[in-house]
Amino acid sequence: MAELCTTVSPASLQGKRILLGVTGGIAAYKSAELTRRLKDEGAEVRVVMTKGAREFVTPLTFQAVSGNPVGTDLLDPAAEAAMGHIELARWADLVLIAPASADVIAKMAAGLADDLLTTLVLATAAPMLVAPAMNQQMYAHPATQANLATLKTRGVLLLGPASGNQACGEVGPGRLLEPLELVAMVSAYFVPKSLLGKKIVITAGPTREPIDPVRYLSNHSSGKMGYALAEAAVAAGAETVLVSGQVSLPVPPGVRRLSVESAAEMHAAVLAEIGNSAIFIGCAAVADYRLASVAAQKIKKTSDELELKLIKNPDILADVSARPDRPFCVGFAAETEQVLTHAESKLQRKKLDMICANDVSQSGLGFGCDDNAVTVLMRTDAGAGVRQQALPAQNKRLLARALISLIASEYLSRHG
Ligand code: PMT
Repeated sequence: MAELCTTVSPASLQGKRILLGVTGGIAAYKSAELTRRLKDEGAEVRVVMTKGAREFVTPLTFQAVSGNPVGTDLLDPAAEAAMGHIELARWADLVLIAPASADVIAKMAAGLADDLLTTLVLATAAPMLVAPAMNQQMYAHPATQANLATLKTRGVLLLGPASGNQACGEVGPGRLLEPLELVAMVSAYFVPKSLLGKKIVITAGPTREPIDPVRYLSNHSSGKMGYALAEAAVAAGAETVLVSGQVSLPVPPGVRRLSVESAAEMHAAVLAEIGNSAIFIGCAAVADYRLASVAAQKIKKTSDELELKLIKNPDILADVSARPDRPFCVGFAAETEQVLTHAESKLQRKKLDMICANDVSQSGLGFGCDDNAVTVLMRTDAGAGVRQQALPAQNKRLLARALISLIASEYLSRHG
């Protein structure tokens, strides 16, 4: 019987001091939400606004959401008395500029310091993260691209931009990333590199089992959970291989993705990669069965009934776990009833180190959604017992971070 351990995931930015620079642009309104999300993760946030930003959102908004005075002017005696700009530059653990306009990016590249924000940028030794947001033509302009390249060579980390519909009616790259995406990236910056030098293989997404040249059997997995795990594994310093079924998600930076279709292809790709791996996470929704024989031509509608004969697919996770050189093995169990009982039986049957019991009967969680919640079942050191830790409903990217941190600490406690 599983023993209950704890029910919360730690705030990823607890005690971190973030200086948030907000510049002029329609996306400035998203920075208020960003401030709130950073605080939710435990960060202390101080906001500095340029003159342009104050045309879109008032300092009072940021004062209310951050709980701190907002910096606007370099030569404001009252603000300097509260916390001088040099003090503020030293205070920050990290500077995040979001949204960063083409103008502020150009000033930063040129080393100008004609307002509070650009002065702080020169005066701080803190790491700098910049999230550009502007019209797609302005973003594509060679001057902006050259300025961004200059910032990159100085160690500035660029976050985004995203591509899509813009406020000006155009479509293309230049949208500010969503607040939650930015929070995940800021948190990743502070993640201890506990998996440095370790290789991790993760499966994600659905498999497709062909029926004929135009049809297949599949499921509703979007790949979001597995891709979020891969992103979090990279943030923890791991060499990360993502064996992915067919999904429409971009490859997270730093991840090596191997694209597959069927369970048999996923099985072969995983076994080819697993030899020198420290950790394997099976997050994919793998089809348990495939067609006994795939029709060479499109099946015609010649009768009222059609029988398909299915045969069992190889179990990728069980095969990895049975290897003599087995890595630390983590499974997922998507269940609609008796979730913990079924998950625990999979943990035992497949001889896993951990399994994430995933109740997919709850609306808004699990397959296809942005959010998820799991209860992690872990073998105790002695091997016979099972500990349990609930990770509550949250965005999959945040959940993935909590999971990778748990996996890393369990793995390291056994393998050093
Ligand atoms: O992709 P998303 O839309 O983000 O949704 C995420 C998810 C719900 C798919 C994910 O969180 C999840 O729960 N994945 C497991 C889905 C599943 O169907 O599990 P299962 O109970 O059938 O399989 C148990 C475990 O064995 C899983 O780790 C699975 O990857 C693995 N398995 C199963 C069959 C098989 N032939 N080979 C396997 O490796």
